Amino acid sequence: MAERIGILVGWEQSMPQAFIERCNKVPGIHAEIAKIGATPELFDSPYRVLVDRISQEVKHYRFYLKAAALAGTFVINDPFWWSADDKFFGFSLAARLGVAVPRTAMLPQKDYIPAIVKDRSLRNLEFPLSWQAIVDYVGFPAVLKPADGGGWKDVTIVRNAEELMRAYDASGLNVMTLQEFIDFDEYVRCICIGRERDKVLVIQYSPARRCYIHHDKEKWLPAALHDRIVDDCMKINESLGYDMNSVEFAIRDGVPYAIDFTNPAPDMHIDSILPPYFEICVDWMVDFCVKTAKGQRGTRDDYRWAKMIDPKIPLLGPLGGDR
Ligand SMILES: Nc1ncnc2c1ncn2[C@@H]1O[C@H](COP(=O)(O)OP(=O)(O)O)[C@@H](O)[C@H]1O
Ligand SMILES: [Mg+2]
Repeated sequence: MAERIGILVGWEQSMPQAFIERCNKVPGIHAEIAKIGATPELFDSPYRVLVDRISQEVKHYRFYLKAAALAGTFVINDPFWWSADDKFFGFSLAARLGVAVPRTAMLPQKDYIPAIVKDRSLRNLEFPLSWQAIVDYVGFPAVLKPADGGGWKDVTIVRNAEELMRAYDASGLNVMTLQEFIDFDEYVRCICIGRERDKVLVIQYSPARRCYIHHDKEKWLPAALHDRIVDDCMKINESLGYDMNSVEFAIRDGVPYAIDFTNPAPDMHIDSILPPYFEICVDWMVDFCVKTAKGQRGTRDDYRWAKMIDPKIPLLGPLGGDR
């Protein structure tokens, strides 16, 4: 019986298609777009590995992936870690791991759902906020951005108190962070697969043009800087439990500051990451997933329930469908 690898996808075409084709060339492996219907509580997952590219958008998929993890499927990325992350936790963690991060302050939300009556329900909140202390810590220019978000949504550069208050007042229900703006000399995005040192691809990125820039040489940065970036990526991915991530650094005066590194479904579209990098990423994903499916990597054994589950309880397949 072939080991099954499934992939959960949204609109994206290039990566899943190439990934499935390449996996299916490997003897003993069958890869496909995973099909998900109704799931019984004693679920026996048909997949050895599931690659998740979309559960941030589809709640049902996230819940399904947790049930699949319980059934022993190796889910990339781990849905429990992913559900627990936010950017501010990431900055706090990275700072404690010795990774350089910009000075960052998390702020209370500006607005709340209607059930929250501001002067009755929020007795835990300091009000007014100590804006002077916040601004003294972070400095200007600064970036006001959501503590969980992506795709540059609601990211504003503020140069003074007036711009800050205007952007904050418009931030609505978002939890925002105010962050030191790093006036960078160089910007990189690293695609990282499988938490392995030799699977960290350090790619130059232009935030102004919002595109990757190709270098013929894989190590195009000075060696010490390249190595530090790879070290930082390893620390970040190991501590956040991510097997697939993109990690952004703004480099100022030779110091790489981690800017955006909780991206558990990183963009891998061929046109955005450029064909040569696309080939490498897909090969690394295939290699990692095949190794995992064949059991050479072991399943995740650090779940709290791992040693408590009774292996004698009979399990059920999905309800209905053709499998
Ligand atoms: N602290 C910062 N210093 C300099 N530039 C920043 C900073 N934070 C964000 N940016 C710029 O804004 C862009 C989007 O912010 P980012 O934190 O990456 O959020 P998203 O998850 O939406 O991509 C980054 O790619 C970077 O160009
Ligand atoms: Mg980003």
